[in-house]
Amino acid sequence: MTYAQIVGWGYAVPSRIMTNSDIEQLVDTSDEWIRTRTGISERRIAGPKESTSTLATRAAQNALQVADLSPSKVDLVIVATSTPDFPMPSVASIVQDNIGAARAGAFDVNAACSGFIYALSVASGMIAGGLHENVLVIGADTLSRLVDWTDRSTCILFGDGAGAVLLRRSESPTGLRSCVLGSDGSGVGSLYVPAGGSRTPITAEQVQARQHFIKMKGGEVFRFAVHAIAQATQQAVQSAGMTMDDVDLFIPHQANIRIIQSAAKALKIPPEKVFSNVNRYGNTSTASIPIALCEAIEAGKVSVGSNLALVGFGAGLAWGAAIVQWGVDATPMPFAWWKSMVRNIQSREAVVRSFALRTQRRIDALRRVNGIHGV
Ligand code: UT7
Repeated sequence: MTYAQIVGWGYAVPSRIMTNSDIEQLVDTSDEWIRTRTGISERRIAGPKESTSTLATRAAQNALQVADLSPSKVDLVIVATSTPDFPMPSVASIVQDNIGAARAGAFDVNAACSGFIYALSVASGMIAGGLHENVLVIGADTLSRLVDWTDRSTCILFGDGAGAVLLRRSESPTGLRSCVLGSDGSGVGSLYVPAGGSRTPITAEQVQARQHFIKMKGGEVFRFAVHAIAQATQQAVQSAGMTMDDVDLFIPHQANIRIIQSAAKALKIPPEKVFSNVNRYGNTSTASIPIALCEAIEAGKVSVGSNLALVGFGAGLAWGAAIVQWGVDATPMPFAWWKSMVRNIQSREAVVRSFALRTQRRIDALRRVNGIHGV
């Protein structure tokens, strides 16, 4: 049998930190309210030169470095996001070009905050089905661009970031052991951005009415989340032929510490098996699970044979849970100067390659124009 093993991982967050006291300057709230109701102390906010694709690119490069894989060996780039740089093309195509993955296919997946689990299951299925050998799966979002900074019920929650894993074909029975995906589209109105899509294109009136920003019924989403996490995790554990005791680390979507604690309690998972970093990043949407996975690895909580329960939930309403059996040594490697040199050369090669392709396209266009004029 063929499996999809996680052999590389990496994340990227903007350097700009926005604390709760910074938000106190914008809306009627307090550090105390935010911390006690959400567990969030600070979040990262993308700068003017950053976007979903720049964060996704950095996360992907970090994952490739850990996997020790040249970008030219990547077969497919999948980016889970609901905040693409443009309505089209995909963020994945931009990342594919940025990293110089010259022979890779690329597409985006939108399942909001559950997107990383969806993308992971798609990639694992493609590898297990023999279609690909090396697939980059990235969860990246810049929800700060969709946040209404005058709405205190949402602007306190979200932050920006990206996390990536590199899946490689393997004969060893590790990687995704089971996956549960679900959706209840009747809950569209619980969490959505009303304007900016095909149903309600952006107009001056829509902008005036602030319809291009996130709208959320927080209580509804909270109740849905606790139920969805508990049910989906139980189903995924069962379908992997395991019991909850077999789960070594529970890494849920980082939306609110109260949601995480309530779900862990319902599942009877002890606090030492629950990973959370929501206090430092807030809700980074589809990036939250891969960022948390990377930080759990850094904290030495993941080793060969560990069973990880990853579970996402959010807009859709959609949810997804996955049991991942860890298969590779995650001990940080000592810094090797030559590896960072190789990485520098690879990223410069990618820039030159992209420039050459764009120049070629312009020359071709000029030739065609001249040809038409000459007729
Ligand atoms: O990725 C998945 C997406 N989202 C989520 O998972 C979010 C799920 N929901 C939540 O995390 C919580 O519902 C929130 C954190 C959004 C809100 O917490 P809550 O405990 O459900 O508060 P609430 O909405 O019931 O509001 C309680 C009170 C209200 O005042 P009144 O009506 O009782 O006087 C709100 O106006 O708290 C008020 N409030 C605030 N007060 C200070 C709401 N936001 C704030 C705020 N600062 N930022």
